[in-house]
Amino acid sequence: MPTLSITAEKGGKSLPTLMTIVPPDREISFEALQKFATESKGNGAFLADLLSAVTAHERCGVHLYNCLFEQTTRDEWADRLEEFGDQTKKHVGICENLIHHLGGNSMYVSPWARLTEDQAAKTLEVLLMSGSTDPFSMELVQLEILLSAELKCHSNWHLLREIAQRMPDSKEKEALHQAVEKVEPEEDEHVEWARSTWQKEIFSRSKL
Ligand SMILES: [Fe+2]
Repeated sequence: MPTLSITAEKGGKSLPTLMTIVPPDREISFEALQKFATESKGNGAFLADLLSAVTAHERCGVHLYNCLFEQTTRDEWADRLEEFGDQTKKHVGICENLIHHLGGNSMYVSPWARLTEDQAAKTLEVLLMSGSTDPFSMELVQLEILLSAELKCHSNWHLLREIAQRMPDSKEKEALHQAVEKVEPEEDEHVEWARSTWQKEIFSRSKL
């Protein structure tokens, strides 16, 4: 079962920064992070932070799909939102397995991942502003938020494909490649649905 929200109680770990204090038992050392993805011959600590941020984006995606599913009044949208939300939940599990394969800890939340979560939380706040707009405008903004999130997802997985291609042949390269092969076709579908639904809605309302 993938972890959709990491907390200290669930075993979350992090790096202390200027404004973030991490209790000693929750702290992960920089030395430990450097041992991540050693077969890549790259910057292990940076790759650990990147994979943590990518996973955070997928976790936030699950929350976004849940929120949109609860809000929508369109049956045809609800089916797709539920389907894509379930797929995104599986992506979280794939990311967690990948991190373990690369020698990391999926409960590690990098500073980059924390900002990813903060950014997503701010975006979700917009979806709670239905009282200060009209339902039609809110529907368009729901689709715009989804499109923006999916464009980022799509870019993340394309980036991971490029990184896998740059890695020397190894079990780690193969693990990354396999994860990309499983997720990327679904991300293509997510971003295409968000883009085409948003456009269709605008064409329909503009009667063009
Ligand atoms: Fe997606």
